[in-house]
Amino acid sequence: MSSGHFIIKQSGQLSGTVPVYGAKNAVLVIMTSLILTNGVSVLDNVPNNADVRLLMSLLQHLGAIITFDVEAKRLTVDASTICRFDVLPEMMNKIRASILVMGPLLARFGQAKVALPGGDAIGMRPINYHLQGFKKFGIAVSVNEPYINAHVEATSKQQSYTRIVLEYPSVGATENLLMYSCLGMGQTVIINAALEPEIFDLIDVLTKMGAKITILPGATLLIDGVNSLNPVAHSIIPDRLEAGSLLVAAAITKGSITIPNARPDHLDIFIEKLREMGHSVVTGIDTAHSASPLGITFTACQNPQAISIKTAPYPGFPTDLQPCLLAALTVANGISTIEETVHDNRMLLTKELNKMGAQISVVGTKATIRGVETLYGADVIAPDLRAACALLLAGLVAEGQTKLAGINHWYRGYDKLEERLIAMGALIYTPEMQLILQENLPTTQLSL
Ligand code: EPU
Repeated sequence: MSSGHFIIKQSGQLSGTVPVYGAKNAVLVIMTSLILTNGVSVLDNVPNNADVRLLMSLLQHLGAIITFDVEAKRLTVDASTICRFDVLPEMMNKIRASILVMGPLLARFGQAKVALPGGDAIGMRPINYHLQGFKKFGIAVSVNEPYINAHVEATSKQQSYTRIVLEYPSVGATENLLMYSCLGMGQTVIINAALEPEIFDLIDVLTKMGAKITILPGATLLIDGVNSLNPVAHSIIPDRLEAGSLLVAAAITKGSITIPNARPDHLDIFIEKLREMGHSVVTGIDTAHSASPLGITFTACQNPQAISIKTAPYPGFPTDLQPCLLAALTVANGISTIEETVHDNRMLLTKELNKMGAQISVVGTKATIRGVETLYGADVIAPDLRAACALLLAGLVAEGQTKLAGINHWYRGYDKLEERLIAMGALIYTPEMQLILQENLPTTQLSL
């Protein structure tokens, strides 16, 4: 995949109708869940991004046979050939979701040797809740950096009931412990579980495999283990974070957008906050899906107002959309505040936005944003995936030209999102386009 940088020029009002692709954070965990099965599963609506390809390599290292039809967005995984339960540190430290192999490997093979996972530098991101949960099942866990060794002891296999109370509704810990608990004969209760839409998609997949999962009030999951799980066919949910980013692209450029396949019910608070800024959001335009009508139509207000947001686990305001909305608030009317409560280091992009003329002051994990009339193009560096998106969106309204480096982060999580933005009128020059321009080749095909 391309390295290098994007050049972003001040663009007009973005407008158009574009789809969202499959959710990165759903497909990654669902790919690891296939370790639980002993056959061939088919996943549709799989985005082609670097994290998905890294996880494919990791599963192939374990022995899975995988084909990825990028055009059809179809991933076929034969998990019957998985024969290893160790993952090399150099694989683990490239991607945070790699830790999610641990629960399925322990469930299927009774052991796992993994390393501490990598991922974005958005905070400390320990895995203590995962490991404490595994220990509750009676699993022996020892950490000898860089490795974590875990094995299911004979006595723990006979444990008929396990009660896990998560101190915090960690997405990854919920996913890992849930996947482990599905295979085996005991009953498990996970209290204070994370219930993000991506976890509902995982529960949908595990249920199709034959798992017995009940969602109880109080964010509690009740799992009755079964002897074996079957391969599945499943289509990944649309990416709510991609949808949110596209909405902000229209908001910041004072344009309009229709996203026919977005799930408004996955974006409730985010949509409310856009409305509070003064924007118009119409949801459920495709009423053929009566259970949860699909589609969002958005029209920007021309004088957006400052707002306050505080991130929180779902259904609270999503931390992964905080950077994009922060970018939009730099040019809103008045003083906005943002409190980031999920990740402890997600304000690095404010330094880059201030280089563009934004007026943001940060104390700890709280930002105060004084809206300005104009941003100015600058050389900026994306510190992480969602910051890359935020800086790109800021570049669309900045006078002149913005050079965005660190776009390896962008490619980690988005499947050609830049092309959909360009189709709506964004002046984004990718490394490939810059090469064509340098070589003086015809630019008509660039749809600029
Ligand atoms: N935490 C702990 N101990 C743990 C686990 C988590 O202290 O054992 C802390 C983390 O340090 C963090 C907070 O709890 O401060 C939330 O972590 P969580 O486990 O909920 O998140 P995650 O599973 O590591 C997933 C997404 C993130 C998203 C968070 C929160 C994937 C692959 N990643 O991470 O997505 O921000 O949930 O919604 O699903 C992104 O897509 O850009 C991204 C970072």
